[in-house]
Amino acid sequence: MGRISTTGDIEVSTYLEIAKERRGEKAVPQEGERRTREAVAVIDFGSQYSMLIARRVRECQVYSELVPYDAPWEQVAALNPKGFILSGGPASVYEQGVPLAPDYVFSKRLPVLGICYGMQALVHQLGGKVAPSTRQEYGHATLTLSADSPLWADLPPTMPVWMSHGDLVVEMPPGFCALAHTESSPVAAMVNDRSIYGILFHPEVAHTPLGKTVIRNFLYHVCGCKGTWTPSNFILDTVESVREQVGSGKVVCALSGGVDSAVVATLIHRAVGDQLTCIYVNTGLLRRDEVERNLNTFKQHLRMNLVYVDATQRFLGRLQGVTDPERKRRLVGEEFIRVFEEEASRIGEVHFLAQGTLYPDVIESASPDSKGSARIKTHHNVGGLPAVMRLKLLEPLRTLFKDEVRQVGAALGMPEEMVWRQPFPGPGLAIRIIGEVTPEKLEVLRAADWIVMNEIKKAKLYRQLWQSFAVLTDARSVGVMGDHRTYGYVVAVRAVASEDAMTADWARLPYDLLGRISTRIVNEVPGVNRVVYDVSSKPPATIEWE
Ligand code: XMP
Repeated sequence: MGRISTTGDIEVSTYLEIAKERRGEKAVPQEGERRTREAVAVIDFGSQYSMLIARRVRECQVYSELVPYDAPWEQVAALNPKGFILSGGPASVYEQGVPLAPDYVFSKRLPVLGICYGMQALVHQLGGKVAPSTRQEYGHATLTLSADSPLWADLPPTMPVWMSHGDLVVEMPPGFCALAHTESSPVAAMVNDRSIYGILFHPEVAHTPLGKTVIRNFLYHVCGCKGTWTPSNFILDTVESVREQVGSGKVVCALSGGVDSAVVATLIHRAVGDQLTCIYVNTGLLRRDEVERNLNTFKQHLRMNLVYVDATQRFLGRLQGVTDPERKRRLVGEEFIRVFEEEASRIGEVHFLAQGTLYPDVIESASPDSKGSARIKTHHNVGGLPAVMRLKLLEPLRTLFKDEVRQVGAALGMPEEMVWRQPFPGPGLAIRIIGEVTPEKLEVLRAADWIVMNEIKKAKLYRQLWQSFAVLTDARSVGVMGDHRTYGYVVAVRAVASEDAMTADWARLPYDLLGRISTRIVNEVPGVNRVVYDVSSKPPATIEWE
């Protein structure tokens, strides 16, 4: 059975969205998406780096979206593109039935940058020749620039680049000239007089240290972008579009305590004030002090209509005797919907449901072959559709990456603690207690988790880590305390670095820090006599243990 690879805030959204999809309804596209003033479309040929290209473009303050290579022009036109970037991809252009650049890439006469396979597609489609190479080029290479070009502004004559291709450009298409070479590729970059560029290396990856300058040059010196994609513009656009869309309607929003739903609520509150009511459900599966701190922030700082409901007993009741992780998830999801529905029906007439869906989730569920979306659906197969679901969806963060959400949160003046909160899964501590969830185990885990958090924050590592937390394993081990033999719980500490939770590396925490965490947990948390550190990365492990 699958897991969903999204963050805590999405959990709530996903429950609600799945319920809605089952009624055959679709999310209402946000005005903000359409009014973006300038953009560069990334035509996706299936590279593992495609999404990264869009991120890099946005880091240069230019809006960018991934577009499937077979998307109709109307879909791309809605972005108001100032240029196209063709991504890399696993195919070889000379094979049958491989993805190629759509006609509009050439007919619209906008600048084009083909990266790796994207360059090979350009060569192939414009009358040049690509062939399998005897010397495949994977990994580091040195790029030597051989002609002046706006693409090379502010770059040295040679630079390290990252290559990942087995094919060679044997013959450039008519009208093109070479701009650079590497030892194995005589044509590693090319251009024609219509600003169609091809580069064989990957400028989007960290292994090409000056890659961002190449991207920036393309955006600003070739496409003529102005750099309008900033948090403050996003806020202005979104507030305005939410106002238009909502009119005098009423909006309900589930707060999870995470940054996404808090940013959604703040944006909507800024747009329509008291027409928004937020619901914060205490599942009894939250971390220590979490509820108090969140209530404080929501009430004091955000000053919005807030319904708080403590449903601890209901959730713990449903989880009694349950050990299977997926069953835990399902039960928490179902119960959440019920509580939410009950509370929302008390508010009176409501027209919109606001939620914190992010761009990676949109891409994942849009892709037809995405296993992810199928997983999310089976996994969140909630029963009985709540009446409250007869609502239009407001998803103002649909176009944002997680780091952009944080930037928007900061620009909205939200408290740092909220903006930088690490993701927390919707089923909460239920999936960090291996086996049955009991009030006693929850207390043990909360106490251990508190120490992990406290020490990580003291070491000033909290922001750098994607997530850091404790897991209560179902193992017991023998120990000795004073003259007594003990038989206690084993707590596992997990800390990972990640950009999007799709992959993650275990964090190389300093030994001293691990030592302090271990000593404190064993001394301060009754029932625990052993602490282990999880040194597995994702894949093949996952971030959570369940
Ligand atoms: P995994 O464990 O799959 O986690 O590597 C990836 C990210 O997703 C979070 N996660 C969840 N979030 N409901 C959620 O809302 C879930 O059921 C769930 N499972 C994992 C996890 O915390 C990490 O950020």
